[in-house]
Amino acid sequence: MRLLVTGGCGFIGANFLHHLLGTHDNAFVVNLDKLTYAGNPLSVKALEDRYPERYVFAHGDIGDQDLVMGLLEGHQIEAVVNFAAESHVDRSISDPAPFVTTNVMGTQVLLECARQHKIERFVHISTDEVYGSLGPEGAFSETTPLAPNSPYSASKASADLLCRAYFKTYNFPVLVTRCSNNYGPYQFPEKLIPLMIQKAGANEPLPVYGDGQHVRDWIYVLDHCRGVELTLTKGKEGKVYNFGGASELPNIEVVKTILTALGKDESLIRYVKDRPGHDRRYAMDYSLAEKELGFVPEFDFSRGIAETIAWYEANQDWMESVQSGAYREFMSRWYKERV
Ligand code: NAD
Ligand code: TYD
Repeated sequence: MRLLVTGGCGFIGANFLHHLLGTHDNAFVVNLDKLTYAGNPLSVKALEDRYPERYVFAHGDIGDQDLVMGLLEGHQIEAVVNFAAESHVDRSISDPAPFVTTNVMGTQVLLECARQHKIERFVHISTDEVYGSLGPEGAFSETTPLAPNSPYSASKASADLLCRAYFKTYNFPVLVTRCSNNYGPYQFPEKLIPLMIQKAGANEPLPVYGDGQHVRDWIYVLDHCRGVELTLTKGKEGKVYNFGGASELPNIEVVKTILTALGKDESLIRYVKDRPGHDRRYAMDYSLAEKELGFVPEFDFSRGIAETIAWYEANQDWMESVQSGAYREFMSRWYKERV
């Protein structure tokens, strides 16, 4: 299996590379990553030493057609897994443009290069956020209409539609995964769980948006990686597969769990101004993936969060390495507007 994986220095991409190279002796992988603020070479450093014959890093943009064509042909790539994206809702509210450039235009360039190269399989990583928001009952299925509410989710939904069009028009062998909120090692501390771990560890206030009752379905990142692997190896072309963690929780419960695990006081919690257009609830019906791929999430939230906290405690150098001046500047500007 000769793969091009994009965004492999990001959170889920890095976990996927560790998992895939560790479990498939025949896998050869090129990791194409632009190394934006969210890409961290440290997350994949071990791969170069561990698998020198089977792992190659390529620094660049999925929107660079010449580079992508060169990688596909030069390394005789058979399949693509596209994780590369701008991924943070709050940043998409501050500045939507890079989300359109990478998530929509970049994905189209990647699809087109892969089509010209006659790729055997193309797995595109999408999100439950393309479906919009739920009330207190029900769950998203693959047939739920797309109704994105943030610039991030709108850009991801646009890419999903391009994937659909490439399948319908060109019979292009694309599969789309839509997953709920991931957590685990190597996640950038702008997303809820690593941000709260970092702030609680530093005895800083923990900002909870609105009333804290917004619900997310948390999936441990390794379960999502297994879902992507199953899609790649067993999924049907042209199909969309939902993945979830069967762990629906209001944000405030997640925050309190982290505080308890770290032995910190709930007085650190600060309710701040809500996120504009904040989706109230996500929940996933992943019965199709269960039936067709044999997918079952293995980590419940209490096990996953314990492993996650332990990882961040043991990898403080990683946490420090991602907190650049630009990161600190964005975070302080964003939270100043909310308090
Ligand atoms: P991330 O922000 O941690 O990582 C994104 C990676 O993509 C970074 O390494 C970055 O450098 C790279 N990248 C960005 N623009 C690029 C470009 N133009 N060319 C090449 N590389 C580029 O994101 P993540 O949380 O790992 O998410 C990965 C994928 O999974 C995304 O497509 C995201 O939409 C999707 N997803 C994420 C979640 C979640 O909870 N994090 C849930 C469902 C789906
Ligand atoms: P996030 O990790 O940004 O993921 P997404 O918006 O893609 O679901 O946020 C998860 C939830 O946590 C979401 O409801 C927003 C909320 N949240 C806070 O309350 N405070 C914060 O500082 C952050 C980053 C998120």
